[in-house]
Parts: sequence; C-alpha cells; structure tokens
Amino acid sequence: MSGKTSNVDMERIVSLCKRRGFIFPSSEIYGGLGSCWDYGPLGVELKRNVKDAWWRAVVQERDDMVGLDASIMMHPQIWVASGHVEGFSDPLVECKSCHLRWRADDMDGDSCPDCGGDLTEPKQFNLMFKTFMGPVEEDASIVYLRPETAQGMFVNFENVLGTSRRKLPLGIAQIGKAFRNEITTGNFIFRTREFEQMEIEYFVKPGSDEEWFDYWVKERFNWYVNLGMRQDNLHLRQHAKEELAHYARGCYDIEYLFPMGWAELEGIANRGDFDLVQHSKYSGKSLSYFDEQSGEHCVPYVIEPSAGVDRSVLAFLVDAYDEELAEKETRVVLHLHPRLAPIKVAILPLSRNEKLVPLAREVYTELRRHFMTQYDDAQSVGRRYRRQDEIGTPFCVTIDFQSLEDKQVTIRERDSMAQIRLPIKELTETLRAKLSGEPFESQPLWATRVVDAS
Ligand code: GAP
Repeated sequence: MSGKTSNVDMERIVSLCKRRGFIFPSSEIYGGLGSCWDYGPLGVELKRNVKDAWWRAVVQERDDMVGLDASIMMHPQIWVASGHVEGFSDPLVECKSCHLRWRADDMDGDSCPDCGGDLTEPKQFNLMFKTFMGPVEEDASIVYLRPETAQGMFVNFENVLGTSRRKLPLGIAQIGKAFRNEITTGNFIFRTREFEQMEIEYFVKPGSDEEWFDYWVKERFNWYVNLGMRQDNLHLRQHAKEELAHYARGCYDIEYLFPMGWAELEGIANRGDFDLVQHSKYSGKSLSYFDEQSGEHCVPYVIEPSAGVDRSVLAFLVDAYDEELAEKETRVVLHLHPRLAPIKVAILPLSRNEKLVPLAREVYTELRRHFMTQYDDAQSVGRRYRRQDEIGTPFCVTIDFQSLEDKQVTIRERDSMAQIRLPIKELTETLRAKLSGEPFESQPLWATRVVDAS
C-alpha cells in the first residue's frame, strides 16, 4: 500500500457540504442524531446522479442485466438462511463503570478509553436493527430492517428469471437503503447506520464464475475512473483467506484514498452457490436453473459487486475538491464529472438591469427544460463564477448588453475558465454536446473573447 495521503482534509469537505447545501447533520435543531445525515438541495442531485450513472452503466447499457426494488422488511427466516441472525455481529466489550460499549478489535488496552474503567469480556452484538410488525410486540412479530439489499435479489431469483425470460449469465441490480447498528461510526458519511447500497447479483453457470469475477472487478474499477476519479487514488485489495466472509470464495475491495486513509469503497465477491442453496433449504423451494443446451439443472454461482452510494458520493467529492490560485485569490472548485455535477448550467445576467432580465429569463426557461439550471443575478459576475465553481457547475452562461443586439451569449467553462461566444439558438445543443464530453473549444468558428469577470 502506498504511503500517499489525501490532498484534502475531511473538515474542508464537511464544511463545504454544510455551507453550500450538499449535506447537513440530521435533526440538527434538536442537537443532531449520531451518524445520521440529510442530503440538501445540491446533495440530493449529486446522489441521484451517482445512482443514475450506476444504473445506466449496469442496467440500461447492458442486455444481461435487469433491475429490482425489493422491500426493506423481509420474511425474518431470510436472515436466518443468509447467516445474518447467527453471524452478523461484532465482538463488543462494555465498560463496567460508564457502560459505554466498544468494539473489542478496536481496543488497545484493557480499560475504557472514555473513563478508564474496567471492561467486560467480549460479547457478540448483532448489527441488525429489529422492529415489530403489527400491533403486538412479541418475538413472533420481529422483523429486521435489511442490513444489505442483496437478499432481495436471491429470494426473487425465480420470479425474475421466469418473467424476464432470460438465460444465464443474468444479473439483477438494485439500489436501496440498508441499516446496520454499527458500533463505530464516523468519518462523515463514510460509515453510518442508515445508508444506501448499489448492488448487483450476477448469476452464472458454475465453472464460469472465476472468469466473471475477474470481469466484474475490472468493470467496476473502470466505472469510477470513467467518471473522472483519479486512478492513483484507487486500488484493489484482495482479501486473504482468513478474512473472507462466510459466504465468499473470493473477494476484492476497491479502495479509495479518503482523507482518513485507504478504505473500502466497494466489495466484489464470488459468493458461489451459497445463497441459492441456503434459500432452497430454508424455503423448501428448489432454486435451480435448467440449461437447455446441456439438458441439465444447476444451481447458479453468483458474483456480487456491492457498492455504497454514500461512500461513492464522499469519494467523488473528495476527488473533485481543489483549491487553486486564480486572479490572485484562492478559488475552491469541484472538478466533478459533468454527469455527476448537481447543476449543469448557471445563467448569469451581467446585471439586474431591466433590459437584460427578459432575455436572461427566456434563456433560463428554455435551458431548464433540458438540464438542471440555476439563475443567479446576485453580486458581481466574478463572485457568481466562484460560487458555481465551488459547487462544480461545468458551465456558466453570461448574458450582456451586446446579447440584446446580436442574440449571442458567452459560455464559460469551469475547469479551464475559457470562454466562447455563440448564438442563443445553438445554446441547448452545444451545451448538450459539451456536457457529454465534446472538447470545449472544438468549434474554431466561434469568436473567443475575454469578458471582464470583475
Ligand atoms: N452484500 C454484501 C455487502 O453488503 P459490505 O461490504 O458489507 O457487503 C457493501 O457492504 C458496501 O456497502 C461497502 O463497500 C460500502 O460501500 C457500503 N457500506 C457498508 N456498510 C456501510 C455503512 N455502515 N455506512 C456506509 N456505507 C456502508
């Protein structure tokens, strides 16, 4: 593992997120609720864009994958079959004086880090949240909030296979909330008790699993890189045999260099036939696949790429964050990939002059039909550029007095700060092309000119 460190500390990210409306502490006016966070107006856009980019890559653009949205509460036997009731736990020690609980494997000494009191022997603590279904709070009505979305895909394997009329290999993708009563939370949205996962269960013929395992490790690594994440901030870590989860035959973590160091962003596991065999056993339903070619039944093996939405959001924010010297002052800029940027275009009339406003509003009304667009007319254009840089808006469109005469506007690009001028009637299509990756100055016919940004 390299000794490289992140180029930004977590405080700066947390502060930007709060200041600009990406992420707020949950229940803040009541003093907050431990490790719970709320996504604000910009955060919700960023998070949706991350999920959309994932869905597009793993469902929309493939013919071997379909989607699912299973319920959060599932039959409690599912968690017995999956091994979660028995084994989804952390060893905990409790302080005999102040009764705080600590993860046994995080402890250095044998006294309480908070008050110095004596600690109990380690006990297993199940991480699943329990609740009761129906009016009676008794053991028979216990249900769990799912600790992973994965089981929804296993128990619906037959439904999906039958209704989608697919052959193996077949993948099922799902995005949704998961809940874990984590003991040690922290590092902002990195480890929380309520979070979202983006998971794939990819069902393959036994024997082809190793090949598909390699395929998915590469595919998922490249997804982050294709969305602009710096490759040297990412690496793969193979799990040692003794570290493997009870269901896994092999596992790789895609790790990212977060401000607190290298940590897991996504895990890709070869789960073999563990889950389908377990659910067959506990449900009494045979969960196998009939291969028409060989005329034989088999229990498919499963490759599982499992990513965290919130961790991806954090990694994309950290990776995009930069402080640069521009015009003798520091400009904070989020170099987010245009597909992820919460706001794609900002409309900036040079001033609030009543002659400019109708044209500026007209451009805004047209553009927001196509892209998330913001209208900003407060303070100098320079200040407004900085505000948009800080939230990662790829393009700003300024409308000046000349626009009234020649029906042209200026587009300014976030990263290079270069500007081009073009007819308003070409604006939507040009922005669409630039947002999907066309180089900014690819049309030499455009006049380039410098607009006073003071
Ligand atoms: N179905 C397999 C599974 O759930 P996992 O490694 O426990 O595997 C997958 O979780 C991903 O979910 C992790 O790589 C991480 O991105 C995310 N994740 C897990 N626990 C989390 C937590 N407490 N807070 C935020 N994200 C979490």
